[in-house]
Amino acid sequence: MIVAKMTTPPSSKQAAGIEAARHVVDGMKLGLGTGSTVAYFLDALAARMRQEGLSVTGVPTSQQTAAKCRELGIDLTDLETTPELDLVVDGADEVDTDFRLIKGGGGALLREKIVAAAASKVIIIVGANKMVKRLGSTFLLPVEIVPFGYTATRARVSALTEGSAYVRLTEAGEPFVTDNGNFILDCRFPRGIEDPDSLHAALSQVPGVVEVGIFLNLCDLVIEGQDDGTVTTHPRA
Ligand code: 5RP
Repeated sequence: MIVAKMTTPPSSKQAAGIEAARHVVDGMKLGLGTGSTVAYFLDALAARMRQEGLSVTGVPTSQQTAAKCRELGIDLTDLETTPELDLVVDGADEVDTDFRLIKGGGGALLREKIVAAAASKVIIIVGANKMVKRLGSTFLLPVEIVPFGYTATRARVSALTEGSAYVRLTEAGEPFVTDNGNFILDCRFPRGIEDPDSLHAALSQVPGVVEVGIFLNLCDLVIEGQDDGTVTTHPRA
Protein backbone atom coordinates (compact mmCIF):
# COMPACT_ATOMS: atom_id res chain seq x y z
CA MET A 1 0.00 0.00 0.00
CA ILE A 2 1.32 3.45 -0.88
CA VAL A 3 0.64 6.06 1.76
CA ALA A 4 0.78 9.61 0.56
CA LYS A 5 2.96 11.72 2.84
CA MET A 6 0.96 14.68 4.10
CA THR A 7 3.02 17.84 4.29
CA THR A 8 1.73 21.00 5.87
CA PRO A 9 2.46 24.16 3.89
CA PRO A 10 4.97 26.52 5.50
CA SER A 11 3.59 29.45 7.46
CA SER A 12 3.60 32.79 5.68
CA LYS A 13 6.74 33.89 7.57
CA GLN A 14 8.50 30.60 6.87
CA ALA A 15 7.63 30.81 3.15
CA ALA A 16 9.15 34.30 2.97
CA GLY A 17 12.28 33.16 4.80
CA ILE A 18 12.78 30.14 2.52
CA GLU A 19 12.36 32.28 -0.61
CA ALA A 20 14.88 34.87 0.65
CA ALA A 21 17.51 32.15 1.16
CA ARG A 22 17.33 31.47 -2.61
CA HIS A 23 18.73 34.98 -3.21
CA VAL A 24 21.99 34.20 -1.43
CA VAL A 25 25.02 33.52 -3.62
CA ASP A 26 28.22 31.73 -2.59
CA GLY A 27 30.76 34.04 -0.94
CA MET A 28 28.27 36.78 -0.08
CA LYS A 29 28.79 39.11 2.86
CA LEU A 30 25.39 39.29 4.50
CA GLY A 31 23.60 41.48 6.99
CA LEU A 32 21.37 39.34 9.17
CA GLY A 33 18.24 40.95 10.62
CA THR A 34 16.32 40.03 13.73
CA GLY A 35 12.99 38.37 14.48
CA SER A 36 10.91 35.28 13.88
CA THR A 37 10.81 35.65 10.07
CA VAL A 38 14.60 36.05 9.93
CA ALA A 39 14.93 32.90 12.04
CA TYR A 40 13.20 30.96 9.22
CA PHE A 41 15.57 32.58 6.71
CA LEU A 42 18.59 31.49 8.78
CA ASP A 43 17.27 27.91 8.95
CA ALA A 44 16.85 27.84 5.16
CA LEU A 45 20.27 29.42 4.63
CA ALA A 46 21.94 26.85 6.89
CA ALA A 47 20.19 24.07 4.95
CA ARG A 48 21.65 25.43 1.67
CA MET A 49 25.09 25.62 3.30
CA ARG A 50 24.85 21.95 4.29
CA GLN A 51 23.37 20.72 1.00
CA GLU A 52 25.25 22.90 -1.52
CA GLY A 53 28.44 23.78 0.37
CA LEU A 54 27.47 27.47 0.19
CA SER A 55 29.87 29.66 2.17
CA VAL A 56 28.86 33.06 3.53
CA THR A 57 29.69 35.41 6.38
CA GLY A 58 27.13 37.50 8.21
CA VAL A 59 26.91 40.59 10.37
CA PRO A 60 24.20 39.92 12.99
CA THR A 61 21.92 42.78 14.09
CA SER A 62 21.29 41.42 17.59
CA GLN A 63 22.58 39.07 20.22
CA GLN A 64 19.54 36.87 19.46
CA THR A 65 20.53 36.52 15.79
CA ALA A 66 24.20 35.98 16.68
CA ALA A 67 23.24 33.12 19.03
CA LYS A 68 21.07 31.48 16.37
CA CYS A 69 23.88 31.76 13.78
CA ARG A 70 26.34 30.12 16.17
CA GLU A 71 23.89 27.22 16.66
CA LEU A 72 23.51 26.84 12.89
CA GLY A 73 27.23 27.18 12.07
CA ILE A 74 26.88 30.44 10.09
CA ASP A 75 30.19 32.38 10.21
CA LEU A 76 29.90 35.79 11.84
CA THR A 77 31.80 38.99 11.23
CA ASP A 78 31.25 42.65 12.12
CA LEU A 79 31.04 45.97 10.32
CA GLU A 80 34.52 46.97 11.46
CA THR A 81 36.02 44.04 9.55
CA THR A 82 33.38 44.01 6.81
CA PRO A 83 31.99 47.53 6.33
CA GLU A 84 30.35 46.82 2.95
CA LEU A 85 27.72 44.12 2.62
CA ASP A 86 26.29 42.45 -0.49
CA LEU A 87 22.86 41.73 0.88
CA VAL A 88 20.79 42.29 4.00
CA VAL A 89 17.79 40.11 4.80
CA ASP A 90 15.56 41.44 7.55
CA GLY A 91 11.95 41.43 8.69
CA ALA A 92 9.61 44.36 9.31
CA ASP A 93 6.55 45.19 11.34
CA GLU A 94 4.90 47.15 8.52
CA VAL A 95 5.71 47.98 4.89
CA ASP A 96 3.83 50.69 3.01
CA THR A 97 3.27 51.10 -0.73
CA ASP A 98 6.34 53.40 -1.00
CA PHE A 99 8.56 50.70 0.59
CA ARG A 100 8.84 52.66 3.82
CA LEU A 101 9.05 50.44 6.88
CA ILE A 102 8.30 50.33 10.56
CA LYS A 103 10.88 48.21 12.36
CA GLY A 104 11.92 47.64 15.94
CA GLY A 105 9.25 45.28 17.26
CA GLY A 106 12.14 43.13 18.47
CA GLY A 107 14.05 46.17 19.72
CA ALA A 108 16.94 45.83 17.25
CA LEU A 109 16.15 48.88 15.09
CA LEU A 110 19.42 50.75 15.65
CA ARG A 111 21.73 47.96 14.53
CA GLU A 112 19.26 46.96 11.82
CA LYS A 113 19.34 50.45 10.31
CA ILE A 114 23.16 50.69 10.46
CA VAL A 115 23.51 47.28 8.80
CA ALA A 116 20.86 48.04 6.13
CA ALA A 117 22.68 51.28 5.25
CA ALA A 118 25.91 49.30 4.71
CA ALA A 119 24.39 46.98 2.08
CA SER A 120 24.13 47.09 -1.70
CA LYS A 121 20.72 45.40 -1.51
CA VAL A 122 18.10 44.99 1.22
CA ILE A 123 15.45 42.28 1.06
CA ILE A 124 12.60 42.61 3.55
CA ILE A 125 10.72 39.42 4.41
CA VAL A 126 7.26 39.55 5.95
CA GLY A 127 4.37 37.26 6.69
CA ALA A 128 0.80 37.97 5.69
CA ASN A 129 -0.92 41.21 6.78
CA LYS A 130 2.20 43.36 7.14
CA MET A 131 1.77 45.38 3.95
CA VAL A 132 -0.23 48.49 4.80
CA LYS A 133 -1.52 51.59 3.05
CA ARG A 134 -0.44 53.83 5.92
CA LEU A 135 2.43 53.19 8.35
CA GLY A 136 1.41 53.07 12.00
CA SER A 137 -2.08 51.78 11.24
CA THR A 138 -1.51 48.32 12.74
CA PHE A 139 1.74 48.59 14.71
CA LEU A 140 3.31 50.91 17.29
CA LEU A 141 6.26 53.01 16.15
CA PRO A 142 9.41 52.17 18.18
CA VAL A 143 11.88 54.95 18.99
CA GLU A 144 15.19 54.09 20.70
CA ILE A 145 16.30 56.60 23.36
CA VAL A 146 19.16 56.81 25.85
CA PRO A 147 18.17 56.13 29.47
CA PHE A 148 19.67 59.43 30.70
CA GLY A 149 16.84 61.94 31.02
CA TYR A 150 14.31 59.57 29.49
CA THR A 151 11.30 61.23 31.14
CA ALA A 152 12.16 64.52 29.43
CA THR A 153 12.84 62.72 26.12
CA ARG A 154 9.54 60.88 26.39
CA ALA A 155 7.68 64.17 26.85
CA ARG A 156 9.31 65.63 23.74
CA VAL A 157 8.62 62.51 21.67
CA SER A 158 5.05 62.42 22.97
CA ALA A 159 4.49 65.98 21.79
CA LEU A 160 5.37 64.86 18.25
CA THR A 161 3.35 61.63 18.34
CA GLU A 162 -0.15 62.60 19.41
CA GLY A 163 0.80 62.24 23.10
CA SER A 164 1.23 58.53 22.79
CA ALA A 165 4.85 57.55 23.59
CA TYR A 166 5.22 54.84 26.24
CA VAL A 167 8.37 53.22 27.60
CA ARG A 168 8.46 49.56 26.52
CA LEU A 169 8.44 47.26 29.54
CA THR A 170 9.53 43.68 30.09
CA GLU A 171 7.14 41.10 31.55
CA ALA A 172 8.69 41.92 34.95
CA GLY A 173 7.56 45.53 34.52
CA GLU A 174 11.11 46.88 34.06
CA PRO A 175 12.12 49.05 31.10
CA PHE A 176 13.14 46.87 28.16
CA VAL A 177 16.86 47.42 27.50
CA THR A 178 18.22 47.08 23.96
CA ASP A 179 21.50 45.39 23.00
CA ASN A 180 22.93 48.95 23.03
CA GLY A 181 21.85 49.61 26.62
CA ASN A 182 19.02 51.95 25.60
CA PHE A 183 15.25 52.15 26.17
CA ILE A 184 12.46 51.98 23.59
CA LEU A 185 9.45 54.28 23.36
CA ASP A 186 6.47 52.76 21.55
CA CYS A 187 4.24 55.39 19.92
CA ARG A 188 0.61 54.85 18.98
CA PHE A 189 -1.06 56.51 15.99
CA PRO A 190 -4.80 55.81 16.00
CA ARG A 191 -5.17 57.13 12.43
CA GLY A 192 -1.76 55.99 11.20
CA ILE A 193 1.21 58.24 10.42
CA GLU A 194 0.22 61.00 8.03
CA ASP A 195 3.71 61.97 6.85
CA PRO A 196 6.40 59.38 7.78
CA ASP A 197 9.26 61.38 6.21
CA SER A 198 8.50 64.54 8.24
CA LEU A 199 7.89 62.59 11.42
CA HIS A 200 11.19 60.77 10.98
CA ALA A 201 12.99 64.10 10.52
CA ALA A 202 11.29 65.69 13.56
CA LEU A 203 11.88 62.75 15.91
CA SER A 204 15.53 62.48 14.82
CA GLN A 205 16.05 66.05 16.09
CA VAL A 206 14.94 65.29 19.65
CA PRO A 207 17.90 65.19 22.07
CA GLY A 208 18.13 61.71 23.56
CA VAL A 209 16.62 59.97 20.53
CA VAL A 210 19.15 57.50 19.16
CA GLU A 211 17.11 56.05 16.28
CA VAL A 212 13.58 56.06 14.87
CA GLY A 213 11.86 52.88 13.71
CA ILE A 214 10.80 54.45 10.40
CA PHE A 215 13.11 53.13 7.64
CA LEU A 216 13.25 55.30 4.53
CA ASN A 217 14.95 54.23 1.28
CA LEU A 218 16.28 51.07 2.90
CA CYS A 219 14.35 48.40 1.03
CA ASP A 220 14.90 47.08 -2.50
CA LEU A 221 12.66 44.04 -2.53
CA VAL A 222 9.84 42.79 -0.32
CA ILE A 223 9.10 39.08 -0.13
CA GLU A 224 5.63 38.65 1.29
CA GLY A 225 4.61 35.21 2.48
CA GLN A 226 0.96 34.25 2.11
CA ASP A 227 -1.17 32.11 4.40
CA ASP A 228 -1.26 29.28 1.80
CA GLY A 229 2.56 29.04 1.83
CA THR A 230 3.12 30.86 -1.48
CA VAL A 231 5.10 34.09 -1.77
CA THR A 232 4.61 37.36 -3.59
CA THR A 233 7.69 39.42 -4.43
CA HIS A 234 7.46 43.20 -4.69
CA PRO A 235 10.53 44.74 -6.36
CA ARG A 236 11.03 48.42 -5.80
CA ALA A 237 10.49 50.31 -9.07
C1 5RP B 1 13.24 43.65 15.10
C2 5RP B 1 12.46 43.91 13.88
C3 5RP B 1 11.80 42.72 13.24
O1 5RP B 1 12.31 42.58 11.96
C4 5RP B 1 10.33 42.96 13.18
O2 5RP B 1 9.86 43.20 14.50
C5 5RP B 1 9.59 41.77 12.58
O3 5RP B 1 9.67 40.67 13.44
P1 5RP B 1 8.98 39.28 13.10
O4 5RP B 1 9.69 38.73 11.91
O5 5RP B 1 9.19 38.46 14.35
O6 5RP B 1 7.51 39.53 12.83
O7 5RP B 1 12.36 44.99 13.38
O8 5RP B 1 13.75 44.84 15.64
